[in-house]
Amino acid sequence: MKIRSKISIGALLVLVVCSSSMAVEWAQNIRVVWSEAPQTEAMVVWDSENTNTPSALVYDTVSRTDEKRSYAAFSSVTERGLYKDPPNKPRKKKDGTVVPPEEPAPELFYHHAMLENLKPGSVYYLAVKTPDGTGREYHFRTAPEDGAPFKLIFAGDSRTRIDVAREISEQMSEMVAADDSILALLHGGDYAGSPRRKFWKPWLEAYSLTTTSGGKLLPIIPVAGNHEGFANNPMYLQAYGYPGGEGGYYLCSLTPSVGILVLNSQVPDKEKQLEFLKQALGKMKQEKIQWQMVAYHRPLYPAVKEPGGDKESWVPVFEEFNLDLALESDGHCIKRTVPIRGEKESADGVVYLGEGGYGAPQRDPKTDRWFIQGEQAFASKGDHIMMLEITPKSINYSTVLSTGEVVDSAEFKPRRR
Ligand SMILES: [Fe+2]
Repeated sequence: MKIRSKISIGALLVLVVCSSSMAVEWAQNIRVVWSEAPQTEAMVVWDSENTNTPSALVYDTVSRTDEKRSYAAFSSVTERGLYKDPPNKPRKKKDGTVVPPEEPAPELFYHHAMLENLKPGSVYYLAVKTPDGTGREYHFRTAPEDGAPFKLIFAGDSRTRIDVAREISEQMSEMVAADDSILALLHGGDYAGSPRRKFWKPWLEAYSLTTTSGGKLLPIIPVAGNHEGFANNPMYLQAYGYPGGEGGYYLCSLTPSVGILVLNSQVPDKEKQLEFLKQALGKMKQEKIQWQMVAYHRPLYPAVKEPGGDKESWVPVFEEFNLDLALESDGHCIKRTVPIRGEKESADGVVYLGEGGYGAPQRDPKTDRWFIQGEQAFASKGDHIMMLEITPKSINYSTVLSTGEVVDSAEFKPRRR
């Protein structure tokens, strides 16, 4: 009898361990998405392959990795479903030959759970709870109290070379593990080649490599790019829990002193977005927000391509409201313009930074363009991220290559608001 009871306890233990690991395998790519209110809210999204089983999120302000796994709070899934691929049609090549439709990619499902009423500058521990058990515990920190210095990573264009995107994610994971002041990543758009599961699944897996070995998540602030097929494909909105709603634009109030206006270069209703842009900048002006930035995908002062179609309507507004920085992607290069006002270099102008190097093939910048010439500008190429250290006294910016080399840096002083 004694032997039998030992076996059954052993079997029970195996069952518990299996259940736990099944739960871990079941919920993949767990990520925190920030949009309007990163001090107090977070959208948590996870994926699952070939199963759309109901699950939920459990969370707490203390770690609960003991046997009981009894978390204080619970958030139910607000939406779950299949990432929808566009219709798979036969394709005609230039020489007239017809390429048959591809085999549909394996099913991949998304799950959204919203965390609300969080405290600023606080660590939250979370896990996905499935019918099989409670999965691995992760944690993240909400945006800090006003005035606390922090770092924000800015990177865009992770499509095409997934091996490079994975490498850069691992580099960021090391940075996050070593530097507690890194808050989040602002992604400038073009996550994957096209809005299909066969491209998005590897991207979401690549981003999950930003999570540290200790389970610390790097929240992502998403911007929509042209490869998201925003106007007629929901992949981006499903993957990030509808940041900014159907229009995909929003004011991200990181802290009461730091606002990032996230715009959508691909939005169908441009008039409505322009109205939102003016209202949001008016609000930031009224509240005297110290650091006012804007992020969008298509560059208005491009180092490679022609200017994005919103240049004429957006630039006068950026200048009227005295934005500090405009963060751009899409060109696949490294760029820092001179401060620009009225189509010329001006000490009180707006600086345009970025162009994306998180995996996309890099291009040569056109260095004959006036706004990337002189001591106050920089143009180059290379796989990279940009680091913004934001304090009440300055924004210290640097471009860090995937090799770790810093190739450009600058200090921006606050405007008188
Ligand atoms: Fe792009």
